[in-house]
Order: sequence, then structure tokens, then C-alpha cells
Amino acid sequence: GNGGASGKERTLAMIKPDGVSGNYTDEIKRIIVEAGFDIFKEMLTQLDKETASAFYEEHSSRSFFPHLVTYMTSGPVFVMVLDKRNAVSDWRALIGPTDAQKAKISHPHSIRALCGKDSQRNCAHGSDSTSSAEREIKFFFKDVNSGDIASQHDEL
Ligand code: PPS
Repeated sequence: GNGGASGKERTLAMIKPDGVSGNYTDEIKRIIVEAGFDIFKEMLTQLDKETASAFYEEHSSRSFFPHLVTYMTSGPVFVMVLDKRNAVSDWRALIGPTDAQKAKISHPHSIRALCGKDSQRNCAHGSDSTSSAEREIKFFFKDVNSGDIASQHDEL
């Protein structure tokens, strides 16, 4: 491919337990493809406490951390690697604000407005930067290149 020239990025997207158990996976995948992303990798998995704690390590000092870990281990999650120009910021825009209650008001067409409930059960996750994306993609898919624009790799 000509990944370097196309300027594509990769991001890590996740449908959280409330989204998977609410049967939103297929609808969210349709939204993703319609928005111009390629779903490069996908995996249904059940996080254990150790894995969820490691994934959300940066939030370990927050008061909600134990609740977040319990919630994220409450059922399967659907993890994807998405490819697109500006994938990181475009996926964050598509999912909407953290608080799904607020998303329903301010971003009614967002994914969190569609299937989220509040700041915890907010249906979807997206990497917040290209460096987070690189870390999070490696976290779940050890063999996948992050697709950074600056990299010399040619997988995209
Ligand atoms: S940010 O970018 O750090 O300001 O985002 P933030 O809103 O702080 O949320 C970070 C992640 O923590 C989750 N979260 C919560 N979980 C449980 N309870 C409460 N009250 C809560 N508030 C925030 C939130 O869903 C974010 O998860 P991810 O998967 O990163 O979107």
C-alpha cells in the first residue's frame, strides 16, 4: 500500500459491555463504515480485573476507578482497530462526550447518545491521542502496527 502518502491513522475503538449486551455492535459497525473507517481488526473479548486495570492505568487514582474496572469486566467488549485519515480525532468526535446524558443533548447523533446511559455506561471508548492509540492497539493486538503517519511502515 501507500500508507505513508495517504496519511492514514489507526485508532483503538471499543464497544463497552452495555453496548455489546444491548446488541448495538452491528449498528455501531455500520455507523463506523458509513463514516469512512476501515475496520482493520476486530475481537470480542472478556476483560478480567487485571487486564481492565492495566488498560485504564492512567485513571487509577480517580475515585471512580474501582467502579470503572467492575463495569468493564461485567460482560464482553468488542475491540476494533480503525483505519482512516484523522482516525483518532474523527472516532472521538463520532462517539461524542464522555457523559452520555450530556451527549443526548449536545451531540444527539453521536454513538454515546445512541446507546450510552451516563459517564460510566457510555457504550464506547476511543483513544484520546495518537500515542494512546499506539499503546492501546498494542495492548489488544500485539502484532499490529499503529499506522502512525510518521512511521516508515507500509502496511496501510
Ligand atoms: S478524560 O478524557 O480523562 O477527561 O475522560 P474522563 O471523562 O475523565 O473519563 C475517563 C474514563 O473514565 C470513565 N469514567 C467513569 N467511569 C465510571 N464512573 C464515572 N463516574 C466515570 N467518569 C468517567 C469514562 O467513561 C472514560 O472511559 P473511556 O473508556 O476512556 O472513555
